[in-house]
Amino acid sequence: MRHLLSTGDLSRSEALAILDLAEEMHEVQRRSIKKLPALRGRTIINMFFEDSTRTRTSFEIAGKWMSADTINVSAKGSSVSKGESLRDTMLTLDSMGVDCFVIRHHSSGAVAQAAGWVQAHVVNAGDGAHEHPTQALLDAYTMRRHFRTRGLGDGFEGKRIAIVGDLLHSRVVRSNVLLQRVLGGTVTLVAPPTLLPTGVENWDAAVTSDFDSVLDRADVVMMLRVQRERMASGFFPTEREYTAGFGLTRERLARLKPTAAIMHPGPMNRGVEISSEAADAASSRVLDQVSAGVAVRMSVLYHLLGGEGEE
Ligand code: NCD
Repeated sequence: MRHLLSTGDLSRSEALAILDLAEEMHEVQRRSIKKLPALRGRTIINMFFEDSTRTRTSFEIAGKWMSADTINVSAKGSSVSKGESLRDTMLTLDSMGVDCFVIRHHSSGAVAQAAGWVQAHVVNAGDGAHEHPTQALLDAYTMRRHFRTRGLGDGFEGKRIAIVGDLLHSRVVRSNVLLQRVLGGTVTLVAPPTLLPTGVENWDAAVTSDFDSVLDRADVVMMLRVQRERMASGFFPTEREYTAGFGLTRERLARLKPTAAIMHPGPMNRGVEISSEAADAASSRVLDQVSAGVAVRMSVLYHLLGGEGEE
């Protein structure tokens, strides 16, 4: 694997190999000394042109726990704010001998473009409303662990995954749908018609605007954030109406199967797409997703960089 740009590029065996190695990496998190020599001498630059808490921090921790040198570059404070193009910035940093770039950018396609300019490996940490492959991988990791602890087996076949909310502005949804194509889960997308991406009818997923119709059968309910910062105009009448139709309210929580997992990539708008009762429920996997984020990113970085250049 040279880059990780889209979950659509992963074969089933590559995806499973990433999830399996992440299980081992997760063990490191429980140790008091969290350090593996795996990426000693490798240099990883985290380039975040958009805000992030979880993704940026977990990539940095993942690199550090594997002994890589990790450096953070943000648009503010770099020459990007002086008008340097993305291409020139990438070529400049690539010339320093960097091994891997982890890039988040507000434009869909920008990360794939950057990958074409540099010698180093590139990981897409979220490009516009397009893709967020490591998020989908950590989601799958979290689902698999949940299924195991609930006695539902190891596989995704036959599992019903509902992804609910602002799908139009979400890069998480596309990466999850593409990943489940190889993992085998059955995805249903739930959103008001105004928040469905164009072309969604060609995705490998059923689509509905009736959240209540999927509640009692779902094995996973993944709630997505209402991305107000990406909305130019009103996509729904009022927040209260949105919550009534598409929020995981206390009433809807009560209708879920007892074995169902509640997920959210964060950041959560409590009281809008998810109630506090659901976010903090025993079946909420939200913090497990965060914890899995470090292990899965360690695994991804190892798959890209590990064992290379040991001549
Ligand atoms: C998501 C993102 O940035 O795409 N968050 C994340 O990475 N944990 C989803 C979001 O911003 O709502």
